[in-house]
Amino acid sequence: MSSYPAIRLRRTRSSVWSRRLHAETILTPADMIWPLFVCDGEDVEQPIASLPGVSRWSVDRIVARGQEARDLGIPCVALFPYTQAERRTADGREALNPDNLMCRAIRALKDAVPEVGVLTDVALDPYTSHGHDGLVDDAGYVINDATAEILVGQALNQAVAGADIIAPSDMMDGRIGMIRDALEADAHQNVQIMSYAAKYASAYYGPFRDAVGTRGLLKGDKKTYQMDAANAEEALREVALDLDEGADSVMVKPGLPYLDIVVRVKQRFEVPVFAYQVSGEYAMIEAAVAAGAAERDAMVLETLLAFKRAGCSGVLTYHAAHAARLLG
Ligand code: PBG
Repeated sequence: MSSYPAIRLRRTRSSVWSRRLHAETILTPADMIWPLFVCDGEDVEQPIASLPGVSRWSVDRIVARGQEARDLGIPCVALFPYTQAERRTADGREALNPDNLMCRAIRALKDAVPEVGVLTDVALDPYTSHGHDGLVDDAGYVINDATAEILVGQALNQAVAGADIIAPSDMMDGRIGMIRDALEADAHQNVQIMSYAAKYASAYYGPFRDAVGTRGLLKGDKKTYQMDAANAEEALREVALDLDEGADSVMVKPGLPYLDIVVRVKQRFEVPVFAYQVSGEYAMIEAAVAAGAAERDAMVLETLLAFKRAGCSGVLTYHAAHAARLLG
Protein backbone atom coordinates (compact mmCIF):
# COMPACT_ATOMS: atom_id res chain seq x y z
CA MET A 1 0.00 0.00 0.00
CA SER A 2 1.58 3.20 -1.05
CA SER A 3 1.24 6.41 0.83
CA TYR A 4 3.30 9.48 1.56
CA PRO A 5 5.81 10.26 0.13
CA ALA A 6 4.91 8.16 -2.93
CA ILE A 7 1.57 9.91 -2.94
CA ARG A 8 1.64 13.67 -2.65
CA LEU A 9 -1.71 15.17 -3.55
CA ARG A 10 -0.09 18.58 -3.75
CA ARG A 11 1.91 17.45 -6.80
CA THR A 12 -0.93 18.05 -9.27
CA ARG A 13 -1.76 21.38 -7.63
CA SER A 14 1.69 22.84 -8.06
CA SER A 15 1.11 24.85 -11.24
CA VAL A 16 -1.69 26.64 -13.00
CA TRP A 17 -1.63 24.40 -16.08
CA SER A 18 -1.81 21.30 -13.92
CA ARG A 19 -4.66 22.61 -11.80
CA ARG A 20 -6.52 23.37 -15.01
CA LEU A 21 -5.78 19.90 -16.34
CA HIS A 22 -7.06 18.21 -13.21
CA ALA A 23 -10.18 20.29 -12.66
CA GLU A 24 -13.10 17.91 -12.19
CA THR A 25 -15.74 20.56 -12.73
CA ILE A 26 -16.01 23.41 -15.18
CA LEU A 27 -18.23 26.45 -15.10
CA THR A 28 -19.23 28.16 -18.36
CA PRO A 29 -21.79 30.81 -19.34
CA ALA A 30 -23.89 27.92 -20.70
CA ASP A 31 -24.53 26.82 -17.11
CA MET A 32 -26.54 29.89 -16.26
CA ILE A 33 -30.13 31.03 -16.44
CA TRP A 34 -30.56 34.78 -15.91
CA PRO A 35 -33.69 35.89 -13.99
CA LEU A 36 -35.13 39.20 -15.25
CA PHE A 37 -37.88 41.37 -13.79
CA VAL A 38 -40.34 43.04 -16.15
CA CYS A 39 -42.32 46.20 -15.42
CA ASP A 40 -44.87 48.32 -17.24
CA GLY A 41 -44.10 51.43 -19.26
CA GLU A 42 -41.61 52.42 -21.90
CA ASP A 43 -37.88 52.94 -21.60
CA VAL A 44 -38.07 52.21 -17.87
CA GLU A 45 -35.37 50.89 -15.58
CA GLN A 46 -36.31 50.58 -11.90
CA PRO A 47 -33.42 49.59 -9.64
CA ILE A 48 -34.43 47.28 -6.77
CA ALA A 49 -32.96 48.58 -3.50
CA SER A 50 -32.72 45.23 -1.74
CA LEU A 51 -31.12 43.61 -4.83
CA PRO A 52 -28.31 46.07 -5.59
CA GLY A 53 -27.31 45.83 -9.23
CA VAL A 54 -30.63 44.29 -10.32
CA SER A 55 -33.43 46.27 -11.97
CA ARG A 56 -36.89 45.87 -13.36
CA TRP A 57 -37.02 46.62 -17.08
CA SER A 58 -39.90 47.63 -19.30
CA VAL A 59 -40.67 45.23 -22.15
CA ASP A 60 -38.82 47.34 -24.74
CA ARG A 61 -35.66 47.26 -22.62
CA ILE A 62 -35.92 43.57 -21.72
CA VAL A 63 -34.98 42.91 -25.32
CA ALA A 64 -31.54 44.44 -24.76
CA ARG A 65 -31.06 42.07 -21.81
CA GLY A 66 -31.90 39.16 -24.09
CA GLN A 67 -29.33 40.37 -26.60
CA GLU A 68 -26.83 40.74 -23.78
CA ALA A 69 -27.52 37.15 -22.72
CA ARG A 70 -26.97 35.95 -26.27
CA ASP A 71 -23.73 37.91 -26.64
CA LEU A 72 -22.46 36.55 -23.31
CA GLY A 73 -23.33 32.95 -24.17
CA ILE A 74 -26.08 32.66 -21.54
CA PRO A 75 -28.55 30.18 -23.05
CA CYS A 76 -31.72 31.11 -21.21
CA VAL A 77 -33.45 33.92 -19.31
CA ALA A 78 -36.22 33.59 -16.68
CA LEU A 79 -38.99 36.17 -16.54
CA PHE A 80 -40.88 37.56 -13.54
CA PRO A 81 -43.42 40.39 -13.82
CA TYR A 82 -44.03 43.34 -11.53
CA THR A 83 -47.76 43.56 -12.11
CA GLN A 84 -49.37 47.00 -11.81
CA ALA A 85 -51.31 47.30 -8.50
CA GLU A 86 -54.65 47.88 -10.25
CA ARG A 87 -54.29 44.57 -12.08
CA ARG A 88 -53.81 42.49 -8.92
CA THR A 89 -56.95 40.68 -7.77
CA ALA A 90 -57.82 37.99 -5.23
CA ASP A 91 -57.98 35.38 -8.01
CA GLY A 92 -54.91 36.59 -9.91
CA ARG A 93 -56.81 36.56 -13.20
CA GLU A 94 -54.23 38.83 -14.85
CA ALA A 95 -52.13 35.65 -15.14
CA LEU A 96 -54.54 34.56 -17.89
CA ASN A 97 -54.42 37.81 -19.85
CA PRO A 98 -52.70 37.14 -23.21
CA ASP A 99 -51.39 40.70 -23.15
CA ASN A 100 -50.03 40.71 -19.61
CA LEU A 101 -46.46 41.84 -18.99
CA MET A 102 -45.16 38.31 -19.07
CA CYS A 103 -46.64 37.49 -22.47
CA ARG A 104 -45.54 40.80 -23.95
CA ALA A 105 -42.00 40.21 -22.72
CA ILE A 106 -41.96 36.65 -24.07
CA ARG A 107 -43.10 37.81 -27.50
CA ALA A 108 -40.62 40.69 -27.59
CA LEU A 109 -37.74 38.39 -26.66
CA LYS A 110 -38.66 35.56 -29.02
CA ASP A 111 -39.05 38.12 -31.78
CA ALA A 112 -35.70 39.82 -31.24
CA VAL A 113 -33.50 36.98 -29.96
CA PRO A 114 -35.17 33.66 -30.80
CA GLU A 115 -31.94 31.80 -30.07
CA VAL A 116 -32.19 32.58 -26.35
CA GLY A 117 -34.46 30.30 -24.33
CA VAL A 118 -37.26 31.88 -22.32
CA LEU A 119 -38.26 30.28 -19.05
CA THR A 120 -41.47 31.50 -17.46
CA ASP A 121 -42.67 31.32 -13.89
CA VAL A 122 -46.03 29.71 -13.22
CA ALA A 123 -47.57 30.78 -9.91
CA LEU A 124 -50.12 33.43 -9.06
CA ASP A 125 -48.18 35.56 -6.56
CA PRO A 126 -47.22 38.36 -8.98
CA TYR A 127 -50.92 38.74 -9.84
CA THR A 128 -52.79 38.30 -6.54
CA SER A 129 -53.79 41.10 -4.21
CA HIS A 130 -52.74 38.95 -1.20
CA GLY A 131 -49.37 37.84 -2.56
CA HIS A 132 -50.03 34.11 -2.27
CA ASP A 133 -49.23 31.71 -5.11
CA GLY A 134 -52.83 30.56 -5.41
CA LEU A 135 -56.46 31.11 -4.47
CA VAL A 136 -57.06 31.63 -0.76
CA ASP A 137 -60.15 30.48 1.18
CA ASP A 138 -61.82 32.36 4.05
CA ALA A 139 -59.44 30.80 6.56
CA GLY A 140 -56.45 31.99 4.53
CA TYR A 141 -55.61 28.50 3.25
CA VAL A 142 -54.29 28.24 -0.31
CA ILE A 143 -56.69 25.95 -2.18
CA ASN A 144 -54.88 23.28 -4.15
CA ASP A 145 -57.12 21.93 -6.91
CA ALA A 146 -58.84 25.15 -7.94
CA THR A 147 -55.46 26.87 -8.04
CA ALA A 148 -53.99 24.12 -10.19
CA GLU A 149 -56.77 24.69 -12.76
CA ILE A 150 -55.79 28.34 -13.07
CA LEU A 151 -52.11 27.46 -13.30
CA VAL A 152 -52.89 25.28 -16.31
CA GLY A 153 -54.46 28.31 -17.99
CA GLN A 154 -51.47 30.44 -17.04
CA ALA A 155 -49.02 27.90 -18.44
CA LEU A 156 -50.96 27.63 -21.72
CA ASN A 157 -51.11 31.41 -21.96
CA GLN A 158 -47.32 31.54 -21.69
CA ALA A 159 -46.80 28.67 -24.12
CA VAL A 160 -48.99 30.37 -26.72
CA ALA A 161 -46.93 33.54 -26.29
CA GLY A 162 -43.81 31.51 -27.06
CA ALA A 163 -42.36 30.34 -23.73
CA ASP A 164 -39.75 27.59 -24.13
CA ILE A 165 -39.70 26.31 -20.55
CA ILE A 166 -42.66 26.44 -18.18
CA ALA A 167 -41.42 26.59 -14.62
CA PRO A 168 -44.15 26.11 -12.00
CA SER A 169 -42.97 27.58 -8.68
CA ASP A 170 -46.27 27.34 -6.80
CA MET A 171 -45.89 23.92 -5.08
CA MET A 172 -49.51 22.84 -5.63
CA ASP A 173 -49.90 19.06 -5.74
CA GLY A 174 -50.65 17.53 -9.14
CA ARG A 175 -50.08 20.56 -11.30
CA ILE A 176 -47.18 19.18 -13.34
CA GLY A 177 -49.30 16.38 -14.77
CA MET A 178 -52.19 18.73 -15.47
CA ILE A 179 -49.92 21.23 -17.24
CA ARG A 180 -48.22 18.47 -19.23
CA ASP A 181 -51.59 17.11 -20.40
CA ALA A 182 -52.75 20.57 -21.41
CA LEU A 183 -49.53 21.30 -23.34
CA GLU A 184 -49.85 17.97 -25.19
CA ALA A 185 -53.49 18.61 -26.00
CA ASP A 186 -52.73 22.07 -27.31
CA ALA A 187 -49.85 21.01 -29.60
CA HIS A 188 -47.03 22.30 -27.41
CA GLN A 189 -45.24 18.96 -27.28
CA ASN A 190 -41.79 20.54 -27.23
CA VAL A 191 -42.46 23.06 -24.51
CA GLN A 192 -40.41 21.92 -21.54
CA ILE A 193 -41.43 21.84 -17.91
CA MET A 194 -38.81 22.62 -15.30
CA SER A 195 -40.60 22.07 -12.04
CA TYR A 196 -39.61 23.84 -8.89
CA ALA A 197 -39.92 20.39 -7.36
CA ALA A 198 -38.14 20.96 -4.06
CA LYS A 199 -38.99 24.50 -3.14
CA TYR A 200 -38.65 25.41 0.50
CA ALA A 201 -40.53 27.97 2.57
CA SER A 202 -37.48 30.16 2.97
CA ALA A 203 -36.30 33.35 4.61
CA TYR A 204 -34.12 33.95 1.53
CA TYR A 205 -36.90 35.25 -0.74
CA GLY A 206 -37.27 38.75 0.71
CA PRO A 207 -35.65 40.83 -2.04
CA PHE A 208 -37.54 38.89 -4.74
CA ARG A 209 -40.79 39.86 -3.06
CA ASP A 210 -39.70 43.49 -3.32
CA ALA A 211 -38.86 42.93 -6.97
CA VAL A 212 -42.32 41.58 -7.84
CA GLY A 213 -44.11 43.80 -5.33
CA THR A 214 -45.54 41.19 -2.98
CA ARG A 215 -43.61 41.84 0.22
CA GLY A 216 -46.11 44.41 1.48
CA LEU A 217 -49.13 42.34 0.39
CA LEU A 218 -48.24 38.99 1.89
CA LYS A 219 -49.55 38.28 5.37
CA GLY A 220 -48.11 35.28 7.10
CA ASP A 221 -45.95 32.75 5.31
CA LYS A 222 -46.16 30.07 2.62
CA LYS A 223 -45.54 27.09 4.88
CA THR A 224 -48.74 25.24 3.98
CA TYR A 225 -47.48 24.76 0.44
CA GLN A 226 -43.73 25.30 0.30
CA MET A 227 -41.53 22.70 1.98
CA ASP A 228 -40.24 22.60 5.54
CA ALA A 229 -36.51 23.31 5.73
CA ALA A 230 -36.20 20.29 8.02
CA ASN A 231 -37.05 17.80 5.27
CA ALA A 232 -34.94 16.00 2.69
CA GLU A 233 -36.78 12.71 2.16
CA GLU A 234 -39.87 14.69 1.29
CA ALA A 235 -37.89 16.52 -1.41
CA LEU A 236 -37.15 13.18 -3.06
CA ARG A 237 -40.86 12.36 -3.03
CA GLU A 238 -41.67 15.73 -4.61
CA VAL A 239 -39.10 15.15 -7.34
CA ALA A 240 -40.31 11.59 -8.00
CA LEU A 241 -43.88 12.81 -8.45
CA ASP A 242 -42.99 15.71 -10.73
CA LEU A 243 -40.84 13.48 -12.95
CA ASP A 244 -43.61 10.93 -13.08
CA GLU A 245 -46.08 13.65 -14.07
CA GLY A 246 -43.90 14.79 -16.98
CA ALA A 247 -41.31 17.29 -15.79
CA ASP A 248 -38.25 17.42 -18.07
CA SER A 249 -36.00 18.80 -15.36
CA VAL A 250 -36.31 19.68 -11.72
CA MET A 251 -35.17 22.53 -9.56
CA VAL A 252 -34.01 22.84 -5.99
CA LYS A 253 -34.59 26.20 -4.34
CA PRO A 254 -32.97 28.02 -2.53
CA GLY A 255 -29.51 27.03 -3.70
CA LEU A 256 -26.44 27.05 -1.52
CA PRO A 257 -28.15 26.18 1.80
CA TYR A 258 -29.77 23.20 0.05
CA LEU A 259 -26.83 21.69 -1.85
CA ASP A 260 -27.36 18.45 0.09
CA ILE A 261 -30.75 18.20 -1.61
CA VAL A 262 -29.17 18.77 -5.03
CA VAL A 263 -26.72 15.94 -4.42
CA ARG A 264 -29.39 13.53 -3.23
CA VAL A 265 -31.75 14.33 -6.10
CA LYS A 266 -28.99 13.96 -8.68
CA GLN A 267 -27.74 10.67 -7.24
CA ARG A 268 -31.19 9.18 -6.87
CA PHE A 269 -32.80 10.19 -10.17
CA GLU A 270 -29.99 10.95 -12.64
CA VAL A 271 -32.02 13.66 -14.36
CA PRO A 272 -31.20 17.30 -15.15
CA VAL A 273 -31.19 19.19 -11.86
CA PHE A 274 -31.11 22.97 -11.58
CA ALA A 275 -30.71 25.16 -8.52
CA TYR A 276 -32.03 28.65 -7.94
CA GLN A 277 -29.50 30.83 -6.18
CA VAL A 278 -32.24 33.05 -4.83
CA SER A 279 -32.47 36.75 -4.15
CA GLY A 280 -31.43 36.53 -0.50
CA GLU A 281 -28.32 34.59 -1.46
CA TYR A 282 -27.42 37.22 -4.04
CA ALA A 283 -28.09 40.01 -1.53
CA MET A 284 -25.86 38.33 1.05
CA ILE A 285 -22.93 38.24 -1.35
CA GLU A 286 -23.48 41.85 -2.37
CA ALA A 287 -23.76 42.91 1.30
CA ALA A 288 -20.50 41.11 2.12
CA VAL A 289 -18.81 42.85 -0.80
CA ALA A 290 -20.18 46.25 0.25
CA ALA A 291 -18.92 45.63 3.79
CA GLY A 292 -15.45 44.87 2.51
CA ALA A 293 -15.74 41.31 3.79
CA ALA A 294 -15.55 39.56 0.43
CA GLU A 295 -14.23 39.94 -3.09
CA ARG A 296 -17.13 39.74 -5.51
CA ASP A 297 -15.60 38.05 -8.54
CA ALA A 298 -13.95 35.22 -6.64
CA MET A 299 -16.98 34.66 -4.44
CA VAL A 300 -19.43 34.59 -7.35
CA LEU A 301 -17.37 32.11 -9.36
CA GLU A 302 -16.66 29.84 -6.38
CA THR A 303 -20.33 29.78 -5.44
CA LEU A 304 -21.50 28.98 -8.95
CA LEU A 305 -18.86 26.27 -9.32
CA ALA A 306 -20.16 24.67 -6.12
CA PHE A 307 -23.53 24.13 -7.83
CA LYS A 308 -21.82 22.37 -10.72
CA ARG A 309 -19.73 20.23 -8.38
CA ALA A 310 -22.88 19.19 -6.53
CA GLY A 311 -24.35 17.95 -9.81
CA CYS A 312 -26.39 20.82 -11.22
CA SER A 313 -26.88 21.15 -14.96
CA GLY A 314 -27.28 24.87 -14.42
CA VAL A 315 -28.06 27.64 -11.97
CA LEU A 316 -30.59 30.45 -11.96
CA THR A 317 -28.53 33.37 -10.70
CA TYR A 318 -28.83 37.15 -10.63
CA HIS A 319 -25.05 37.17 -11.09
CA ALA A 320 -25.38 35.44 -14.49
CA ALA A 321 -24.29 38.36 -16.68
CA HIS A 322 -21.45 39.32 -14.35
CA ALA A 323 -20.22 35.73 -14.09
CA ALA A 324 -20.47 35.19 -17.84
CA ARG A 325 -18.38 38.31 -18.37
CA LEU A 326 -15.75 37.03 -15.95
CA LEU A 327 -15.67 33.68 -17.70
CA GLY A 328 -15.13 35.42 -21.02
C1 PBG B 1 -42.99 32.67 -6.03
C2 PBG B 1 -41.54 32.74 -6.25
C3 PBG B 1 -40.62 33.16 -5.29
C4 PBG B 1 -39.37 33.13 -5.88
C5 PBG B 1 -39.53 32.68 -7.20
N1 PBG B 1 -40.89 32.43 -7.41
C6 PBG B 1 -40.82 33.68 -3.92
C7 PBG B 1 -41.81 33.08 -3.05
O1 PBG B 1 -42.05 31.87 -3.10
O2 PBG B 1 -42.37 33.84 -2.27
C8 PBG B 1 -38.12 33.54 -5.17
C9 PBG B 1 -36.92 33.80 -5.99
C10 PBG B 1 -35.88 34.59 -5.29
O3 PBG B 1 -35.93 34.83 -4.07
O4 PBG B 1 -34.95 35.01 -5.99
N2 PBG B 1 -43.75 31.93 -6.89
